Amino acid sequence: MIVGVLKEADFENRVSLLPEGVKSLGNLKSSVLFEKGSGSRAFATDDEYKSAGAEEADIENILKRSNIILSINAPSREVLSKLPESTIIISVFNPLAEKETIDFLLDKKITAFSMDMIPRTTRGQAMDVLSSMATIAGYKAVLDAAFNLPNFMPMFMTAAGTIRPAKVLILGAGVAGLQAIAIARKLGAVVEVFDVRSAVKEQVESLGGKFVEVEGATEDAAAGGYAVEQTDEFKQKQKQLIHDHAAKSSILICTAQIPGRAAPLLIEKHTVEAMKAGSVIIDLAASTGGNCELTENGKTVVKEGVKIIGKSDYPSDMPNDASRMYGNNLINLLKVLLDDEGNINLNLEDEILQGTCITHAGEIISPRLKSIYSTK
Ligand code: NAI
Repeated sequence: MIVGVLKEADFENRVSLLPEGVKSLGNLKSSVLFEKGSGSRAFATDDEYKSAGAEEADIENILKRSNIILSINAPSREVLSKLPESTIIISVFNPLAEKETIDFLLDKKITAFSMDMIPRTTRGQAMDVLSSMATIAGYKAVLDAAFNLPNFMPMFMTAAGTIRPAKVLILGAGVAGLQAIAIARKLGAVVEVFDVRSAVKEQVESLGGKFVEVEGATEDAAAGGYAVEQTDEFKQKQKQLIHDHAAKSSILICTAQIPGRAAPLLIEKHTVEAMKAGSVIIDLAASTGGNCELTENGKTVVKEGVKIIGKSDYPSDMPNDASRMYGNNLINLLKVLLDDEGNINLNLEDEILQGTCITHAGEIISPRLKSIYSTK
């Protein structure tokens, strides 16, 4: 089997497969073609790819010769148009939001797998890029906040007086939020956490955070571990409680998201006004609208003396480990997709392949995507 690694667009520092991944694919009886400079921003040189057994090729050659194409960001329409029908592309297509891309893939009869659709099952864990990248985002968000805060994070008892620990408020205790709790606690902060899923209370507490409960949350076991839309009454109650806790915090880490929808608005302007000047808000939900009303995606703004960092691309700022984790997730998926001889075994009855394959032969395959598109 020939696997092609595409060079990502200029805004992206990660690469879908590092040279160490080339070796792992060799064990799966597959060889790798890569575009010149694919890994340079992730600190992997062309020579390292070649030493690992990969062959450098131009994009036209990669598209023509590869059986499977790997990337992180969805390739341009121009590139996708050149894919032979028998070639499989594995990328992150964000299909719940990008309907036009899905229509394009359907029209071109492309077989596309989207790594953000890996089913959230025990078996899927080793392939779950959303978890891998959220781990990085949660970690980096706290470090960035600490760096920008005009105060210490831990408590200090010094000859110059006692410094009180920073108070960190975390909205959303999914993968990113839990990682943020762990790092903020390691830095010595006092941590409070909101989430609409009561199941996370125990996890929050085991990491040393205080779970602030808002009664009356809507939960749905069928949502596969994800949050669902809340009632207006709950939203009002939650906003008031968050307002009260935010006013006493100097760092806010926003991670609350609902797949396929705009992020819930949890912090209004008057809450930012109530925070101490010098406080820092990191909004990881910025790309889906943000949890804070004043967030601007991809920008750092200072409003009412509070620094608001709207950033959803922390993984690209830590490109070496982010690429390593993404590549490992991919290899684990390829172990399901390839048979012992390294040939493609497109068994769309397999729960992982079915859930992750978004389009094949002009049809939507993923049941989750199908159910959403049938109601659009
Ligand atoms: P996410 O990125 O979709 O959302 C982040 C967090 O925000 C979630 O905990 C969600 O409940 C919370 N949230 C949403 N709306 C909110 C609101 N209005 N107020 C407060 N909080 C709100 O979530 P993520 O990180 O993708 O994980 C969700 C869950 O999925 C995990 O906690 C876990 O249970 C499950 N999971 C399962 C995996 C597996 O079994 N393979 C892998 C990864 C996650």
